[in-house]
Amino acid sequence: MAADRRLPRIVFIAILLIVVVGLLQPFRSSSRYHAPATARPPIPFVPSSFDWTTVSQHHPSNFIHTLPPDSPKKLGRVQHHFADYQHDAATEARRDAVRAAFTKSWDSYKKHAWLRDELAPVSGGGKTTFGGLAATLVDALDTLWIMDLKDDFYLAATAATALDFANTTETSFNLFETTIRHLGGLLGAYDLSGEPALLQKARELGDMLYMAFDTPNRLPGFWLNFADARAGGQLAGTNDPSACPSSLSLEFTRLSQLTADPKYYDAVSRVTDFLERTQNATTLPGMWPKLLNFRDEQAGSGTDYTLGALADSLYEYLPKMGILLGGGAPRYEAMHRAAMAVVVDHLLVRPMLPDEDKHNRDVLFSGDAVVRPGTVERVPEGQHLSCFTGGMFALGGRVFDIPKHVEIGERLARGCAWAYDAFPTGLMPEIFGIVACESIDGPCPWDEERWKAEGGAGLKKGFANARDPRYILRPEAIESIFLLYRMTGKEELRDIAWRMFEAVMKGTETPLGNSAIADVTVTGETEKLDSMESFWLAETLKYFYLVFSPPGVISLDEYVLNTEAHPFRRPEGAGRNP
Ligand SMILES: *[C@@H]1O[C@H](CO)[C@@H](O)[C@H](O)[C@H]1NC(C)=O
Ligand SMILES: *[C@@H]1O[C@H](CO)[C@@H](O)[C@H](O)[C@H]1NC(C)=O
Repeated sequence: MAADRRLPRIVFIAILLIVVVGLLQPFRSSSRYHAPATARPPIPFVPSSFDWTTVSQHHPSNFIHTLPPDSPKKLGRVQHHFADYQHDAATEARRDAVRAAFTKSWDSYKKHAWLRDELAPVSGGGKTTFGGLAATLVDALDTLWIMDLKDDFYLAATAATALDFANTTETSFNLFETTIRHLGGLLGAYDLSGEPALLQKARELGDMLYMAFDTPNRLPGFWLNFADARAGGQLAGTNDPSACPSSLSLEFTRLSQLTADPKYYDAVSRVTDFLERTQNATTLPGMWPKLLNFRDEQAGSGTDYTLGALADSLYEYLPKMGILLGGGAPRYEAMHRAAMAVVVDHLLVRPMLPDEDKHNRDVLFSGDAVVRPGTVERVPEGQHLSCFTGGMFALGGRVFDIPKHVEIGERLARGCAWAYDAFPTGLMPEIFGIVACESIDGPCPWDEERWKAEGGAGLKKGFANARDPRYILRPEAIESIFLLYRMTGKEELRDIAWRMFEAVMKGTETPLGNSAIADVTVTGETEKLDSMESFWLAETLKYFYLVFSPPGVISLDEYVLNTEAHPFRRPEGAGRNP
């Protein structure tokens, strides 16, 4: 009898074990950064008070795009082979310093601005800057996870999955910002934690943002206006920043991958169709002007080209879409290659430098181009925003096997780092002029008179001006240094990163956290502007933390990061090359 009674218990325990191991398997095989078995109950999902799927589309889609099937084509490996990597105490101390900076700002947000979009880092209190939907909280979720601040992660994720997207006094949302920060933040947090409520919330938000595509040609406008969306009165813009409709693709594609509903991917693929059709029909074939006519789907006669403000993430997302979809979507690689060829020919600039700075002679910046009758004028102006290009060139160079682009990427990343060092605060201005060489590779003798004539006297040699001298806690420079470190394994890039981090802390720290500053060219105390955008916790501190982490933490062969640094898991089989 005793044996008989024990047997069912053994069977029961065995079954229980199999179930538990089976449940854990997806997490274990996918990543060690996924949730371990914890005693925590699942995060609850609280639906919004309005369900946008109940509003029918006035211009329904005929669903012509479905996710491409897996391709046998492998993309190139992204990360350096860190075979003998040792995580030393000095690096760990640096990482701790970054985590402490994060915790300080985050704790102030919790105390003074909980559920608000932003903390006011000088005056205290909160700000509404992105529709009043707790932008900083949602944006910071995956950083909390990565920094292993799990109690706060669960606290914040529980608040995020209870957000009521319909409880707002706003009449419209900024489609681009809400997509990259909120939708990206929820998806990144889900991809790391595996908490189903985060995906449910992402889908609910995705269903709301999907309404923006309900226009006659199914290309979205800049704003998602709620009244227009219900009434069916939306139109695409005739003069919209090219980045806005063109860099929703990564978030919407990841949402389709995770929900197996192709409608989100279908929506953004139509924007890609338009870009593909017009790429070689613009006034600078290969690139798209800063402003585009999405309503009439015309390449237009725009003459201004940049990788900076208004256009930036359009370009950033081309190689990243290639990565997220794997080799099955070759058009993204083709568009990336065609665009970057033009960037190399017309936008990259190299500063003219004196002999004493000759070890920086190879650095590059991404400038602008203006098309004039019969000529393309190179505008030697750098922006903090365009510092992401170092990482973009190198990443595309790795996955699509273009070694020259990895080299260019490193030169661009070092350009921004050099510009940090060039100012008394150790920080780069928001926008600045460069005294440019004739070409990015030829000889370039120093010409003191020319530098003075272009207005540079008083600045470091090589600069012409600091047209917008603010530093607003932006991430793009450390983003590229981080990416290049992971791709090349050069330890010295971490020393650059540390110098940048110390300068950021020295120039921007306040009693509550960190603040945008008015002028990086001052020698004394900096003027604080009482602004801490959500990207400080979502991006800037995440990249600083990752550069001092072991290379397996958010490996770029497992994840692709959206333009707000939210990590999306690259599907197995989608060209991954681990
Ligand atoms: C709606 O928002 C207000 C202010 O942001 C908040 O106080 C209130 O609790 C919210 N109501 C619901 C149902 O979420
Ligand atoms: C645009 O031109 C480039 C360079 O000639 C070419 O490689 C690319 O395929 C063209 N793109 C399209 C969509 O026709």
